[in-house]
Amino acid sequence: MILVFGSINADVVVPVPHLPGAGETVLGGDYALLPGGKGANQALAARRAGAAVALAGAVGRDAFAATALGLLRQDGVDLSLLRAVGRPTGCAAIMVGSDGENLIALAPGANEAATAAQVADDGLGPAVTLVCQMEVPPAETVALIRRARTRGARTMLNLAPALPLDPAALADIDLIVANQVEAATLGENLALLGRRLRHGMIVTRGASGATAYLADGGRFDIPALPIEPVDTTGAGDTFVGVLAAGLDLGLDLAEAARRASAAAGLSCLGRGAQTAMPDRIAIEAALIRLPEARGIR
Ligand code: RIB
Repeated sequence: MILVFGSINADVVVPVPHLPGAGETVLGGDYALLPGGKGANQALAARRAGAAVALAGAVGRDAFAATALGLLRQDGVDLSLLRAVGRPTGCAAIMVGSDGENLIALAPGANEAATAAQVADDGLGPAVTLVCQMEVPPAETVALIRRARTRGARTMLNLAPALPLDPAALADIDLIVANQVEAATLGENLALLGRRLRHGMIVTRGASGATAYLADGGRFDIPALPIEPVDTTGAGDTFVGVLAAGLDLGLDLAEAARRASAAAGLSCLGRGAQTAMPDRIAIEAALIRLPEARGIR
Protein backbone atom coordinates (compact mmCIF):
# COMPACT_ATOMS: atom_id res chain seq x y z
CA MET A 1 0.00 0.00 0.00
CA ILE A 2 0.95 3.63 -0.36
CA LEU A 3 1.24 6.07 2.52
CA VAL A 4 1.45 9.73 1.54
CA PHE A 5 2.69 12.22 4.14
CA GLY A 6 2.04 15.68 2.81
CA SER A 7 0.06 18.82 2.19
CA ILE A 8 -3.68 19.23 1.74
CA ASN A 9 -4.91 22.49 0.22
CA ALA A 10 -7.85 24.29 -1.28
CA ASP A 11 -6.78 25.84 -4.60
CA VAL A 12 -8.26 29.16 -5.73
CA VAL A 13 -7.67 28.99 -9.47
CA VAL A 14 -7.93 31.99 -11.79
CA PRO A 15 -7.59 31.51 -15.57
CA VAL A 16 -5.66 34.44 -17.09
CA PRO A 17 -4.71 35.34 -20.68
CA HIS A 18 -1.07 35.57 -19.61
CA LEU A 19 0.75 35.21 -16.29
CA PRO A 20 1.29 38.66 -14.70
CA GLY A 21 4.74 40.15 -14.08
CA ALA A 22 5.71 41.96 -10.85
CA GLY A 23 3.38 44.88 -10.23
CA GLU A 24 1.06 43.89 -13.08
CA THR A 25 -2.71 43.18 -12.75
CA VAL A 26 -4.39 40.98 -15.35
CA LEU A 27 -8.12 40.42 -15.75
CA GLY A 28 -9.01 36.74 -15.72
CA GLY A 29 -12.07 34.49 -16.10
CA ASP A 30 -14.26 33.07 -13.32
CA TYR A 31 -12.27 31.54 -10.46
CA ALA A 32 -12.75 27.96 -9.29
CA LEU A 33 -12.28 26.61 -5.74
CA LEU A 34 -10.76 23.15 -6.16
CA PRO A 35 -9.03 20.47 -4.05
CA GLY A 36 -5.22 20.52 -4.19
CA GLY A 37 -2.00 20.27 -2.23
CA LYS A 38 0.93 18.20 -3.41
CA GLY A 39 0.40 15.45 -0.84
CA ALA A 40 -3.34 15.18 -1.47
CA ASN A 41 -2.82 15.33 -5.24
CA GLN A 42 -0.26 12.53 -5.17
CA ALA A 43 -2.51 10.41 -2.95
CA LEU A 44 -5.42 10.80 -5.36
CA ALA A 45 -3.27 10.10 -8.43
CA ALA A 46 -2.01 6.86 -6.87
CA ARG A 47 -5.53 5.86 -5.84
CA ARG A 48 -6.95 6.47 -9.32
CA ALA A 49 -4.08 4.40 -10.75
CA GLY A 50 -5.32 1.44 -8.72
CA ALA A 51 -3.37 1.48 -5.43
CA ALA A 52 -4.62 1.33 -1.85
CA VAL A 53 -3.65 4.72 -0.39
CA ALA A 54 -3.63 6.41 3.02
CA LEU A 55 -2.87 10.11 3.53
CA ALA A 56 -1.36 11.64 6.69
CA GLY A 57 -1.44 15.43 6.99
CA ALA A 58 -3.36 18.27 8.61
CA VAL A 59 -6.33 20.46 7.74
CA GLY A 60 -8.12 23.26 9.59
CA ARG A 61 -11.54 23.17 11.20
CA ASP A 62 -12.98 25.31 8.44
CA ALA A 63 -15.03 25.17 5.25
CA PHE A 64 -11.96 24.84 3.01
CA ALA A 65 -11.22 21.47 4.62
CA ALA A 66 -14.35 19.98 3.03
CA THR A 67 -13.26 21.29 -0.37
CA ALA A 68 -9.73 19.97 0.10
CA LEU A 69 -10.87 16.47 1.15
CA GLY A 70 -13.86 16.02 -1.15
CA LEU A 71 -12.34 13.98 -4.00
CA LEU A 72 -10.06 12.01 -1.67
CA ARG A 73 -13.15 10.83 0.23
CA GLN A 74 -15.08 10.13 -2.96
CA ASP A 75 -12.27 8.04 -4.45
CA GLY A 76 -11.61 6.02 -1.29
CA VAL A 77 -8.31 7.37 0.05
CA ASP A 78 -7.93 6.37 3.73
CA LEU A 79 -8.05 9.63 5.74
CA SER A 80 -7.90 8.10 9.23
CA LEU A 81 -4.37 9.47 9.83
CA LEU A 82 -5.37 13.12 9.28
CA ARG A 83 -5.29 15.80 12.02
CA ALA A 84 -7.75 18.68 12.27
CA VAL A 85 -5.99 21.66 13.90
CA GLY A 86 -6.68 25.25 14.87
CA ARG A 87 -5.05 26.79 11.79
CA PRO A 88 -6.66 27.58 8.42
CA THR A 89 -6.62 24.77 5.86
CA GLY A 90 -3.76 25.30 3.40
CA CYS A 91 -4.74 27.52 0.50
CA ALA A 92 -2.97 28.03 -2.83
CA ALA A 93 -3.57 31.04 -5.09
CA ILE A 94 -3.04 29.75 -8.61
CA MET A 95 -3.06 31.59 -11.93
CA VAL A 96 -3.20 29.52 -15.11
CA GLY A 97 -2.21 31.13 -18.42
CA SER A 98 -3.70 30.33 -21.82
CA ASP A 99 -0.66 28.13 -22.55
CA GLY A 100 -1.50 25.97 -19.49
CA GLU A 101 1.49 27.19 -17.43
CA ASN A 102 0.87 28.41 -13.88
CA LEU A 103 2.06 30.61 -11.00
CA ILE A 104 1.37 29.39 -7.46
CA ALA A 105 1.62 31.08 -4.06
CA LEU A 106 0.84 28.88 -1.05
CA ALA A 107 -0.38 29.79 2.44
CA PRO A 108 0.54 26.50 4.20
CA GLY A 109 -1.61 27.11 7.32
CA ALA A 110 -2.56 23.75 8.88
CA ASN A 111 0.06 21.92 6.81
CA GLU A 112 2.67 23.35 9.20
CA ALA A 113 1.09 21.27 11.97
CA ALA A 114 1.57 17.91 10.20
CA THR A 115 3.86 15.65 12.24
CA ALA A 116 5.66 12.35 11.68
CA ALA A 117 4.09 11.15 14.95
CA GLN A 118 0.75 10.84 13.15
CA VAL A 119 2.10 7.64 11.60
CA ALA A 120 2.69 4.70 13.98
CA ASP A 121 5.70 2.41 13.46
CA ASP A 122 3.48 -0.53 12.54
CA GLY A 123 2.19 1.48 9.57
CA LEU A 124 5.70 1.55 8.04
CA GLY A 125 6.59 -2.05 7.14
CA PRO A 126 8.08 -3.57 3.95
CA ALA A 127 4.67 -3.62 2.21
CA VAL A 128 4.49 0.19 2.37
CA THR A 129 5.64 2.79 -0.16
CA LEU A 130 6.05 6.12 1.67
CA VAL A 131 5.60 9.18 -0.58
CA CYS A 132 6.65 12.63 0.71
CA GLN A 133 7.03 16.19 -0.63
CA MET A 134 8.24 19.48 0.85
CA GLU A 135 5.00 21.36 1.67
CA VAL A 136 4.85 20.04 5.25
CA PRO A 137 7.73 20.70 7.70
CA PRO A 138 10.86 19.15 6.14
CA ALA A 139 12.20 18.04 9.55
CA GLU A 140 9.03 15.95 10.06
CA THR A 141 9.35 14.52 6.57
CA VAL A 142 12.99 13.56 7.09
CA ALA A 143 12.13 11.99 10.46
CA LEU A 144 9.34 9.90 8.93
CA ILE A 145 11.53 8.79 6.01
CA ARG A 146 14.18 7.68 8.52
CA ARG A 147 11.69 5.58 10.50
CA ALA A 148 10.21 4.13 7.30
CA ARG A 149 13.67 3.17 6.02
CA THR A 150 14.50 1.45 9.32
CA ARG A 151 11.31 -0.59 9.07
CA GLY A 152 11.89 -1.66 5.49
CA ALA A 153 9.40 0.55 3.61
CA ARG A 154 10.14 1.93 0.13
CA THR A 155 10.75 5.68 0.43
CA MET A 156 10.07 8.32 -2.24
CA LEU A 157 10.60 12.08 -1.99
CA ASN A 158 9.24 14.62 -4.46
CA LEU A 159 11.51 17.63 -3.90
CA ALA A 160 8.68 20.13 -4.45
CA PRO A 161 8.79 22.93 -3.66
CA ALA A 162 12.58 23.10 -3.69
CA LEU A 163 13.69 23.64 -0.09
CA PRO A 164 17.01 22.78 1.56
CA LEU A 165 17.27 19.06 2.32
CA ASP A 166 19.50 17.60 5.04
CA PRO A 167 22.17 15.75 2.96
CA ALA A 168 22.18 12.96 5.57
CA ALA A 169 18.60 12.15 4.55
CA LEU A 170 19.72 11.01 1.08
CA ALA A 171 20.91 7.67 2.46
CA ASP A 172 17.35 6.84 3.55
CA ILE A 173 15.65 7.68 0.25
CA ASP A 174 15.05 5.08 -2.47
CA LEU A 175 13.89 7.50 -5.14
CA ILE A 176 13.79 11.28 -5.56
CA VAL A 177 11.55 12.88 -8.19
CA ALA A 178 12.17 16.54 -9.04
CA ASN A 179 11.64 18.89 -11.95
CA GLN A 180 14.66 20.54 -13.55
CA VAL A 181 14.51 23.66 -11.36
CA GLU A 182 14.14 21.64 -8.17
CA ALA A 183 16.90 19.21 -9.17
CA ALA A 184 19.29 22.11 -9.82
CA THR A 185 18.93 23.26 -6.20
CA LEU A 186 20.57 20.04 -5.04
CA GLY A 187 23.77 21.47 -6.53
CA GLU A 188 25.12 18.13 -7.70
CA ASN A 189 25.69 16.30 -10.95
CA LEU A 190 22.44 14.38 -11.47
CA ALA A 191 24.12 11.12 -12.43
CA LEU A 192 26.24 11.26 -9.26
CA LEU A 193 23.20 12.13 -7.18
CA GLY A 194 21.32 9.14 -8.60
CA ARG A 195 24.19 6.92 -7.46
CA ARG A 196 23.94 8.25 -3.89
CA LEU A 197 20.29 7.15 -3.59
CA ARG A 198 19.17 3.58 -3.03
CA HIS A 199 17.36 3.30 -6.40
CA GLY A 200 17.98 6.61 -8.17
CA MET A 201 16.57 9.96 -9.20
CA ILE A 202 14.00 10.94 -11.82
CA VAL A 203 14.08 14.45 -13.28
CA THR A 204 10.87 15.54 -15.02
CA ARG A 205 11.19 17.91 -17.99
CA GLY A 206 7.59 18.80 -18.88
CA ALA A 207 6.87 18.34 -22.59
CA SER A 208 10.35 16.83 -23.05
CA GLY A 209 9.54 13.84 -20.81
CA ALA A 210 11.78 12.72 -17.95
CA THR A 211 15.15 11.10 -17.29
CA ALA A 212 15.97 8.46 -14.69
CA TYR A 213 19.49 8.40 -13.19
CA LEU A 214 19.91 5.03 -11.52
CA ALA A 215 21.91 3.99 -8.47
CA ASP A 216 23.82 1.42 -10.57
CA GLY A 217 24.98 4.16 -12.99
CA GLY A 218 22.39 3.33 -15.66
CA ARG A 219 20.10 5.94 -17.15
CA PHE A 220 16.92 5.97 -19.23
CA ASP A 221 14.73 8.57 -20.88
CA ILE A 222 10.95 8.52 -20.53
CA PRO A 223 8.97 10.12 -23.38
CA ALA A 224 6.09 12.57 -22.81
CA LEU A 225 2.62 12.23 -24.29
CA PRO A 226 2.16 14.70 -27.18
CA ILE A 227 -0.63 17.02 -25.95
CA GLU A 228 -1.97 20.60 -26.09
CA PRO A 229 -2.01 21.52 -22.37
CA VAL A 230 -5.02 23.28 -20.84
CA ASP A 231 -3.64 23.40 -17.28
CA THR A 232 -0.35 21.87 -16.13
CA THR A 233 -1.19 22.27 -12.40
CA GLY A 234 -0.65 18.96 -10.63
CA ALA A 235 1.07 17.24 -13.57
CA GLY A 236 4.17 16.61 -11.44
CA ASP A 237 1.97 15.30 -8.63
CA THR A 238 0.21 12.95 -11.05
CA PHE A 239 3.61 11.68 -12.21
CA VAL A 240 4.73 10.96 -8.63
CA GLY A 241 1.46 9.35 -7.52
CA VAL A 242 1.18 7.08 -10.56
CA LEU A 243 4.88 6.19 -10.34
CA ALA A 244 4.38 5.14 -6.71
CA ALA A 245 1.29 3.15 -7.64
CA GLY A 246 3.15 1.32 -10.41
CA LEU A 247 6.03 0.38 -8.11
CA ASP A 248 3.59 -0.65 -5.40
CA LEU A 249 1.77 -2.89 -7.90
CA GLY A 250 5.09 -4.58 -8.80
CA LEU A 251 6.08 -2.89 -12.08
CA ASP A 252 9.75 -2.19 -12.77
CA LEU A 253 10.93 1.43 -12.62
CA ALA A 254 10.94 1.97 -16.41
CA GLU A 255 7.37 0.73 -16.88
CA ALA A 256 6.08 2.55 -13.78
CA ALA A 257 7.72 5.77 -15.04
CA ARG A 258 6.21 5.33 -18.51
CA ARG A 259 2.73 5.05 -16.96
CA ALA A 260 3.47 8.06 -14.77
CA SER A 261 4.44 10.09 -17.82
CA ALA A 262 1.28 9.11 -19.72
CA ALA A 263 -0.86 10.01 -16.68
CA ALA A 264 0.92 13.36 -16.20
CA GLY A 265 0.20 14.25 -19.82
CA LEU A 266 -3.48 13.32 -19.49
CA SER A 267 -3.77 15.43 -16.32
CA CYS A 268 -2.90 18.55 -18.34
CA LEU A 269 -5.95 18.17 -20.58
CA GLY A 270 -8.45 19.57 -18.03
CA ARG A 271 -8.59 22.31 -15.41
CA GLY A 272 -7.39 21.80 -11.84
CA ALA A 273 -4.91 19.47 -10.17
CA GLN A 274 -7.15 16.66 -8.89
CA THR A 275 -10.17 17.27 -11.10
CA ALA A 276 -8.18 16.36 -14.24
CA MET A 277 -6.40 13.25 -12.95
CA PRO A 278 -6.90 10.10 -15.06
CA ASP A 279 -7.90 6.67 -13.81
CA ARG A 280 -6.18 3.37 -14.57
CA ILE A 281 -8.28 2.67 -17.70
CA ALA A 282 -7.47 6.07 -19.23
CA ILE A 283 -3.77 5.65 -18.42
CA GLU A 284 -3.64 2.23 -20.07
CA ALA A 285 -5.42 3.55 -23.17
CA ALA A 286 -2.91 6.43 -23.47
CA LEU A 287 0.10 4.09 -23.23
CA ILE A 288 -0.58 2.98 -26.81
CA ARG A 289 0.49 6.48 -27.91
CA LEU A 290 3.65 6.55 -25.79
CA PRO A 291 6.96 5.05 -27.00
CA GLU A 292 8.97 2.75 -24.72
CA ALA A 293 11.53 4.24 -22.30
CA ARG A 294 15.04 4.26 -23.86
CA GLY A 295 18.01 3.16 -21.77
CA ILE A 296 21.63 4.28 -21.88
CA ARG A 297 24.49 2.55 -20.06
O1 RIB B 1 1.51 20.86 -7.40
C1 RIB B 1 0.29 21.58 -7.48
C2 RIB B 1 -0.16 21.96 -6.10
O2 RIB B 1 0.77 22.85 -5.55
C3 RIB B 1 -1.48 22.68 -6.06
O3 RIB B 1 -2.59 21.82 -5.97
C4 RIB B 1 -1.32 23.62 -4.88
O4 RIB B 1 -2.17 23.32 -3.82
C5 RIB B 1 0.15 23.54 -4.49
O5 RIB B 1 0.33 22.76 -3.38
